[in-house]
Amino acid sequence: MEKKLQGQVAVVTGASSGIGAGVSRSLAAAGAIVIVNHPVAATRDAAEAVLAEITAAGGQGITCQCDVSKENEVVQMFADTVRQFGTVDILINNAGLQRDAPFTDMTLEQWNTVLGVNLTGQFLCAREAIREFLRRGIVPERSKAAGKIICMSSVHEVIPWGGHANYAASKGGIMLMMKSIAQEYAGKKIRINSICPGAIQTPINKQAWDTPEALESLLTLIPYQRIGQPEDIGNAAVWLASDESDYVTGISLFVDGGMTLYPGFSTNG
Ligand code: BGC
Repeated sequence: MEKKLQGQVAVVTGASSGIGAGVSRSLAAAGAIVIVNHPVAATRDAAEAVLAEITAAGGQGITCQCDVSKENEVVQMFADTVRQFGTVDILINNAGLQRDAPFTDMTLEQWNTVLGVNLTGQFLCAREAIREFLRRGIVPERSKAAGKIICMSSVHEVIPWGGHANYAASKGGIMLMMKSIAQEYAGKKIRINSICPGAIQTPINKQAWDTPEALESLLTLIPYQRIGQPEDIGNAAVWLASDESDYVTGISLFVDGGMTLYPGFSTNG
C-alpha cells in the first residue's frame, strides 16, 4: 500500500532532539524524505543519530545544519533542499527553546534568543517554504495541497506561564502568525496549522519528569494522567501533513492529554 506521505520532501527544524526527532521518525515511517535540521556543529552527531534511526527503519533523509534565526542560513537550507530533492512539500516549523527567568531578572539576550528562534525562525522558514509552494503549485500525484506547514506551538499559546514570559510570548505570536498566513494563502491551496503539545517527555522539560515527585506534580496538570511522548506529536503531524486533513487549515490542534481543560476546576470552583 502507498504510504500517506510517499516521496514527499519534509523539512523538520530542530530535529536533532525531542519533538523534532520524534516527528522526523513518524514522517519518515509515513514515506517522507526528511531533512533533519539541526542548529550548530555541536548538534551534528545527534542529528546523524536521528537519521541513522530513520534509515535503519527503511526511511530516507539527510541532515542539514542551519540556525533558523539567521535569514541567510534559512534561505540556503531551502535552496539546497530544492536543488537536491526538486522541491519541498512539508515544513515542520519545530525548532524552539526556553530561556526561563523571573520577568524582572530576564535579560534582553534571553528575550531575544527565545523570540529569535521560536518566532522569527518560524517566520523565516515559513516564508521560504511558501515561496517554494507558490513556485511549484499543486502536483496532484503528490498531494491535493500545494504545500503544508505545521507550526509547533504549545499549550502556552493560551496558558499564561509565569517565569517564562519570553516563551509564552513566542507561542502566542506563533498562533496569530500561523492563522494570518493560513488565511492569506488558503486560496493558493497551502494549508498551515499548528500543533500545541502539552508536556511531552523530552530534554526541554526534564526537570518536570525526572524525579517521581516532579512527575507526580506534573500529572496534577494532565487529566489523561500520563506524560506525552514524541510519537503522540508525530502521529498528529503525519495526519496534518497528509491529504486526510485536506479540509483543515488555520487550526491549533492541542495534543496535551487535556492540559488545557483547566484541571484545577475538576473538584472545585
Ligand atoms: C514547554 C515544556 C512544558 C510544556 C507544558 C511546553 O511548551 O516547552 O517545558 O512542560 O509546555 O507546560
